[in-house]
Amino acid sequence: MKVAIIGASGYAGGELVRLLYYHTSAEVTCATSRKLAGTPLVSVHPHLNGFTDLAFENPDTEAIDADVAFLAVPHTAAMAYAGKLLSRGIKVVDLSADYRLKKEVYEKVYGVPHSDYFAAPYGIPELHRKEVVNAKFVANPGCFPTGATLAAAPLARHAHTVIFDSKTGVSGAGDNPSATTHYPNVGDNVGPYKWTSHRHLAEMKQELDFLGSKARCYFTPHLVPVNRGILTTAHILLNEPLETKEVERIYREYYQNEYFVRYQKPSLAAVRGSNFCDIMVESEGYRVVAVSAIDNLVKGASGQAIQNMNLMCGFAETDGLVHAGVLP
Ligand SMILES: NC(=O)c1ccc[n+]([C@@H]2O[C@H](COP(=O)([O-])OP(=O)(O)OC[C@H]3O[C@@H](n4cnc5c(N)ncnc54)[C@H](OP(=O)(O)O)[C@@H]3O)[C@@H](O)[C@H]2O)c1
Repeated sequence: MKVAIIGASGYAGGELVRLLYYHTSAEVTCATSRKLAGTPLVSVHPHLNGFTDLAFENPDTEAIDADVAFLAVPHTAAMAYAGKLLSRGIKVVDLSADYRLKKEVYEKVYGVPHSDYFAAPYGIPELHRKEVVNAKFVANPGCFPTGATLAAAPLARHAHTVIFDSKTGVSGAGDNPSATTHYPNVGDNVGPYKWTSHRHLAEMKQELDFLGSKARCYFTPHLVPVNRGILTTAHILLNEPLETKEVERIYREYYQNEYFVRYQKPSLAAVRGSNFCDIMVESEGYRVVAVSAIDNLVKGASGQAIQNMNLMCGFAETDGLVHAGVLP
């Protein structure tokens, strides 16, 4: 099966090329970058030397010859490609935010009009598998909402308030340098940003709503000096108290058939480079602390996108994704 990656020079695009190398049925045949068209892909992804001979090309929706396309481009850019590729019979997984929210919510949160809106399954397979199977288009979730939602989902209906406190690695910001990601500002440092206004909060609220929860939802992210990973501490405030033993049973049961969710003490290193989400819980009665860890570029982006592609195309859900984390 031929795969095109629009935005292959970025972090998520590079990760798609890396992971798809191990897929039994998919081959990346087109990788785009407007700035680097004509340049070998390995010029910006040297770790992929020996794994691909591709050169970047310009994204031309009429010329792309593929069965599936991944859109690993910034929000607002994806809407220029999604509909055109779909109309040519190409299945699409969009890693940007363009199709994750309802139209009016997207336009409010991102402050731009949507020029080509259609509804799409929200691709957390553990929660939306039925909608994703056989879909032609899937909106891949944000990295924070993936880890946060998986941490809260089993108790979502029992909570009146959920507070997500996340620590993220710097690759979450993409490969475009900024003052925030400048080494002296990040190295040896930890700090909050967008304390109450991060755009991913809208996805978290949407998912709690989908899960039938009436809980109020809050979110504060922090930048930590690591390249990859998101650790989310979810404070789940319950309507009725529960003991740790019972909460642990609920979580283990909820995820018992999910290969990519492991019940164990979460740490960034244990999931680094892998598609796993590690979760563990502890209760003090009315407050449950559920902590999750994911790699933002794998379960938080490209790995989950491949998991969705596998479901859309009828492959084994784990194809290309069975990698242990990289520890230490
Ligand atoms: N980084 C993460 O941890 C993460 C996690 C979850 C989701 N995501 C989402 O995944 C997408 C990619 O993220 P990233 O971190 O890989 O970003 P990135 O490192 O900044 O890469 C962006 C890629 O998109 C291309 N691009 C930019 N504007 C474009 C346009 N108008 N048309 C076509 N290509 C365009 C860029 O190449 P050219 O400009 O040369 O064409 C580049 O290849 C974003 O929507 C991001 O929000 C990222």
